[in-house]
Amino acid sequence: MNSLQLPCGIYDETLPEDLRPLREFSQASDASYSFVYYGSINSTNDTAKSGDYPAETVIIADAQVNGRGRFTRDWYSPPGVNISMSIALRPADDVPAAALSLLNTAASLAVSRALRAETGLDVWPKWPNDVYIGTRKTGGILSESIILGGRVLRLIIGIGINVNTPGFPAGLKDKATSLTLETGMTYSRGQLIASILREFDQCRRCAPGHVISEWTGMSKTIGSYVYVAGQCGIARALNEDGSLVIALENGEAVTSSGITIAPCH
Ligand code: BTN
Repeated sequence: MNSLQLPCGIYDETLPEDLRPLREFSQASDASYSFVYYGSINSTNDTAKSGDYPAETVIIADAQVNGRGRFTRDWYSPPGVNISMSIALRPADDVPAAALSLLNTAASLAVSRALRAETGLDVWPKWPNDVYIGTRKTGGILSESIILGGRVLRLIIGIGINVNTPGFPAGLKDKATSLTLETGMTYSRGQLIASILREFDQCRRCAPGHVISEWTGMSKTIGSYVYVAGQCGIARALNEDGSLVIALENGEAVTSSGITIAPCH
């Protein structure tokens, strides 16, 4: 793995070739994002949280040394092949908490829309923060916030996507996939990131009902048997704060954390 490096902009000559489409994207008249690029970094989410970045800064790393998933799981981030990025937002004070929670859903919808459009694959968002192709995971979202005195000062939407990964270590092989493993093609990470940011801009401005219904139509979570806290039920619907409604034998449960999709015995 590379040693950790200093940040640079997307016009630096060290920017990998396949990230260069971001230069054109950042010059487009409607683009509101600025970019910071690192060759190698611990975690783009950690950097986004610790630095004083202006709103709408996108931190991109070619590789992460300590990429994290939910529940502090490791996130596999080798150099040169994947998307590791964090979007730093500064929400206005009057944005309701539910709307902020739903941004996680909006991000997984945006990633699914973008990857479908760019690859033609049947990419789908799995509740709460995964992006799947078939039965294997190709991406994940890690949303984190910095809260002070009850105010959300910063919201970080971390996005990891297995793009051109040629294979996975033993423990991940059966669970993970990449775009290139699915199609045999090599993708430009810059083009995919631009497409994700365009979709995210749309999805985050949509009415909650629209995000929920489009996500529900695309996801295979709703209608599936799921286990939650040792009980089996059927995932029925998504709430406006992104939580999941599950019909159990003896009533209804609402959860904001992990479920397992598996047939009940
Ligand atoms: C998950 O599936 O549990 C979420 C994975 C999120 C990984 C991304 S990669 C960019 C950002 N930086 C991190 O350390 N994690 C997120």
